[in-house]
Amino acid sequence: MKTIIANLKMNKTPSECKNYLMNLVSRFDKAENVELCVCLPFTSLAEAKYILKDSKIKLGAQNLSDYEEGGNTGEISGAMLKDAGVDYVIVGHSERRSKFKENNKLINKKIKVALKNGLGVILCVGESLVEKNTLKTLDSLREQIEEGLKGLYENELEKVILAYEPIWAIGTGKHASVREIEYAVKVIRKVIEDDFSSRAAKQIRVLYGGSVNNKNATALFKAKGMDGALIGGASLDVNMFLNLLSLL
Ligand code: 13P
Repeated sequence: MKTIIANLKMNKTPSECKNYLMNLVSRFDKAENVELCVCLPFTSLAEAKYILKDSKIKLGAQNLSDYEEGGNTGEISGAMLKDAGVDYVIVGHSERRSKFKENNKLINKKIKVALKNGLGVILCVGESLVEKNTLKTLDSLREQIEEGLKGLYENELEKVILAYEPIWAIGTGKHASVREIEYAVKVIRKVIEDDFSSRAAKQIRVLYGGSVNNKNATALFKAKGMDGALIGGASLDVNMFLNLLSLL
């Protein structure tokens, strides 16, 4: 069973999201071999809960506050997401790390808040182009995972999905090779083994994200140890996205 997560990022108004989801729901449920989650903008979550109610598509958010409640104008809490019907929340996406200056400490706090509120977490990790070119991928991934998951209990990892998203591959049309994905997946599982257990390392789901589309999906899904994909641009058009899912 592959896990596919669509990250719509800051695209689609509530009415556009509604059309997208209605279309997806009516046509997706026939595909049995995929666990699908769609991560929508905040403004579409509450309505999505009703549209997805009788489908097996999971609902995801793209961010949450590291605070629980109160005087944090403009923030969205874990409890709000849970009540809106959210199953998973993306934390540590490289766009938030770079544009919104989120560091591993903050990401760690957000993960704890998400888990405390019963949400699953999709933790994104990935190296920059400079790190890749200076052979620092391993160090970069290790640091992001260790600091991001610091203080978690092993049983909490059941609610965590790791997404390997090399920064240089996001929205660039350049994807990692099967060998690079296999290497990163190995590194990720080794870090989990070192910090938790070999059982946890085997069980945790590891996805790849970065310029996945219907032209390269079949080849990329040959990567050993990879459990699925986190898809941005190629998830925005329902027809294209369904076509991609049908290739798995
Ligand atoms: P693209 O698929 O558009 O490269 O985006 C990947 C991503 O950032 C998913 O979170």
